[in-house]
Amino acid sequence: MKGIVFTEYLAFAENLVGEDVVEDVIEACKLPSGGAYTTVGTYDHAEIVILTKAFSEHTGIDDQDLVRMFGVYLGEVFQRKFSQFFAEADTLFDFLASVHTHIHVEVQKLYPDAELPSIEMIERSERTALLRYRSPRNMDALALGLIQAAASGFGDTIETERDSGADVDGTYVDFRLTRSG
Ligand code: HEM
Repeated sequence: MKGIVFTEYLAFAENLVGEDVVEDVIEACKLPSGGAYTTVGTYDHAEIVILTKAFSEHTGIDDQDLVRMFGVYLGEVFQRKFSQFFAEADTLFDFLASVHTHIHVEVQKLYPDAELPSIEMIERSERTALLRYRSPRNMDALALGLIQAAASGFGDTIETERDSGADVDGTYVDFRLTRSG
């Protein structure tokens, strides 16, 4: 995955547990990269899984919930750094539909080696939507956090139900979203 995700992950972890703990955890995890991430680099997403396990042990927060919390943080970073994508969408559901059809397509052009998930909007009505996530990296907790950050960005309150399934294209995770305000 692209370095920006890792540099932001460490910034998120520093906010959570402080710089000293982050340094100790990086050292103890003996990561292939040594944790010396740069925004232009590309790293194995498994390093985030390893670091998250260590931070989960340190904080007592469930590891999937930590990844979701990181998704919220990253979503806020994206709202600042890539504000044009948010400005182009009138509503939350327009924005979420555009991740697959437009945003990740542009990201792929910008970073040809980016490893992006598929996030298709399968159904949509005024108040409900069904987003289907597929990725060999299984970072659906990150997707949930990014969805929650986007909802706050649009001033929407949403409820999310998560389901998993499989079809001829492989496994997927469905997010059923209901806007309540
Ligand atoms: C302005 C908005 C967005 C931008 C600029 C953006 C960009 C990116 C970038 C740069 C990556 C890393 C790719 C790589 O490291 O190779 C990524 C990964 C990812 N994105 Fe987005 N993204 C945006 C919105 C979203 C939203 C709203 C969702 C969820 C609905 C989402 C779901 C994901 C997930 C789950 C990954 C991790 C990789 C994986 O699951 O396989 N993104 N995105």
